[in-house]
Amino acid sequence: MNIQELEKLYLQRQSCREFSDMVVPNEVICEICRVALLAPSAMNAQPWQLIAVTGEKKQAVLAAIQHLGMNKFASKASAIIVVAEGKNGGLMKVGAAFKENEFVRNDLGILTAHLVLAAEAAGLGSCIIGWRNEAKLREALGLGKNVKIPEVVAVGYPAEGYPVREKKRKELGEVFRLI
Ligand SMILES: Cc1cc2nc3c(=O)[nH]c(=O)nc-3n(C[C@H](O)[C@H](O)[C@H](O)COP(=O)(O)O)c2cc1C
Repeated sequence: MNIQELEKLYLQRQSCREFSDMVVPNEVICEICRVALLAPSAMNAQPWQLIAVTGEKKQAVLAAIQHLGMNKFASKASAIIVVAEGKNGGLMKVGAAFKENEFVRNDLGILTAHLVLAAEAAGLGSCIIGWRNEAKLREALGLGKNVKIPEVVAVGYPAEGYPVREKKRKELGEVFRLI
């Protein structure tokens, strides 16, 4: 892959807020998660877990990301993939000594980026959902109260004719310097 092909993928990847009725096979969901989990992490601690919810727990997970009427579009997603803190092993205890470095949150954010790009490459639409009730999510999934869940990603096939929007991004000069 060259940089132009990568840019094309980045331009195509957008927050999808209208999903088709067509159900994404679980194999495809598993595949994008597997590929995304190649993401880098501090000290290679991989302090994460991905929980792809397609079955009976989906309603409870939806309730956690749709409270106060938000994210209604997620109801038609084939899967809600929860990006949660996982086992860190001894390595992350070392990392915790550097409190100002939020290693775990950074790592989970990087994993989320890999996940949405993997979804796009597999022909799926996705939307990162930061608006969520973490306590409700933890309860729905039976996760302990110290488990951070910084991101949730809704995935599904985009609705037919769903347009690829032009990217609205800051001017390069505002956010990039070569010094
Ligand atoms: C951490 C994070 C949280 C987000 N939370 C939501 C959300 O709760 N609901 C939503 O519709 N979009 C959410 N988004 C999507 C952003 O609005 C979107 O990425 C941004 O407007 C840029 O548009 P694009 O993804 O189509 O390029 C979130 C994105 C990120 C990175």
